[in-house]
Amino acid sequence: MKSATFEILPTNNENREMCNTGNAWRLVLFFLWATGIAWLFAVFVLDSPNPFSQFSSKQNLPFVNNNAAPHNALNQTPAMNINSPKENDGEKYCDFFKGQWVPEPNGSLYSQWSCPTIPDTKNCGKFGRKDVDFINWRWKPDECELPRFNPKTFLSLVRGKKLAFIGDSLARNQIESLLCLLSQGETPKDIYKDSEDRFRTFYFPSHDFTLMVYWTKFLVAAEDKGIINGSRTNVFDLHLDKLDVNWADKLPNLDYAIISIAHWFLRMNNLYEGGRLIGCTECNNPNVPDLGTQFTIAKAIRTALGYISECKECNRGLVTVFRTFSPVHFEYGSWNSGGKCNRTRPYTEEQVNSYNAEWEMEIRRRQVKEFEKIKNTTKGKMFEILDITSAMIMRPDGHPGHHWKDQYSDGKSFTDCVHWCLPGPIDLWNDLLMAVLQRRKGSSL
Ligand SMILES: *[C@@H]1O[C@H](CO)[C@@H](O)[C@H](O)[C@H]1NC(C)=O
Ligand SMILES: *[C@@H]1O[C@H](CO)[C@@H](O)[C@H](O)[C@H]1NC(C)=O
Ligand SMILES: *[C@@H]1O[C@H](CO)[C@@H](O)[C@H](O)[C@H]1NC(C)=O
Ligand SMILES: *[C@@H]1O[C@H](CO)[C@@H](O)[C@H](O)[C@H]1NC(C)=O
Repeated sequence: MKSATFEILPTNNENREMCNTGNAWRLVLFFLWATGIAWLFAVFVLDSPNPFSQFSSKQNLPFVNNNAAPHNALNQTPAMNINSPKENDGEKYCDFFKGQWVPEPNGSLYSQWSCPTIPDTKNCGKFGRKDVDFINWRWKPDECELPRFNPKTFLSLVRGKKLAFIGDSLARNQIESLLCLLSQGETPKDIYKDSEDRFRTFYFPSHDFTLMVYWTKFLVAAEDKGIINGSRTNVFDLHLDKLDVNWADKLPNLDYAIISIAHWFLRMNNLYEGGRLIGCTECNNPNVPDLGTQFTIAKAIRTALGYISECKECNRGLVTVFRTFSPVHFEYGSWNSGGKCNRTRPYTEEQVNSYNAEWEMEIRRRQVKEFEKIKNTTKGKMFEILDITSAMIMRPDGHPGHHWKDQYSDGKSFTDCVHWCLPGPIDLWNDLLMAVLQRRKGSSL
């Protein structure tokens, strides 16, 4: 397969658009504003509702063993327990998402040279990143060990299945990581790419596994207001009660849907419901209420997960995995004004506490709440969460910064402290995905 074709990333278009717009500044100012205050983080960490707290255990329970059916729920039907593994006779679950980064001398499963699909936008080593210590960490949940990604284990879990990442360029970043990780086990065939390179399909013939990415900025329907009077507005009309059919139509085909959204909401957008303008975000219009990004993200999640929850045509075994907010780490300025993310180590606990992550944890909190509402009230559908926000807040050292390039631009024009280097801490998302799918399989045998 050609790696070059995978380099045309949505993020580039996104960035180009951002170059031309004043609205991007709102986003940037918002980031700057948000990174300026530093007092609520600890409160949020301590108070944040933990979606898996009911599974937590004071004891150190071993993680699900690959080869053994780990739970004593074998005599229950999947329909009874798929939505509530906690009911498995008091079986306790480790909270994978609460923990810390610990040194890992063995580094990553792959390198910039051994991954055939690594895109230049994330190939930090190729574009001058000299420090390598940021690769030598692994995530250690407080209550258990998280197995490192194993391509064989993952591919056997998803044998014969179809899995899609649904979201923006961060969803793309996760599939790029997964492709690198899996390519150490089986080389995928690159079988489909649309003209804008926003929908991709890869196929792993030995495991009959189909891996896809579906591009959507908002999950809900959005109209680009396009160019008005010669300048790009970059304002979208969001229909909060309508789905973006580009992914929704494809859902019935899937066994696993990995869903995420957020970053495109942190800017000026107009909001519609029932075809009526109900408000806007990051806006300044005396006649239209600013309903806030939190509200808007929550609404979009409700619409998207609500659709999945009621989807009749969907696969009976469909597992939906919601990934929480991926934090950004600009310092010394913004993405195009000398902003940097040049740290080479994870934050210490002390640094995390003094770095303001309150707004990021608040987005996460709202996302988790919407997710739980749907999960708690849905019967016969499986929902999981990849709650990566806390772990990633600790990794200001994981972004490309100015070590990246694509056909439009490079790190000299602006720094990227939004996406993540490969290899790098984003590989954790797929360690977690493997663990969650493995546990899911164990609990619904
Ligand atoms: C590093 O890898 C080697 C060989 O795979 C393994 O034996 C060892 O336990 C690993 N070390 C750590 C700290 O995981
Ligand atoms: C576009 O320009 C025209 C003429 O200058 C003006 O009347 C109109 O309000 C502008 N439209 C917008 C959306 O700014
Ligand atoms: C990061 O950049 C800042 C500002 O230029 C500089 O003061 C700092 O020493 C740099 N940090 C590292 C680890 O290179
Ligand atoms: C969902 O259910 C869990 C477990 O019963 C509970 O802790 C949580 O508060 C519920 N969340 C919502 C939003 O209903």
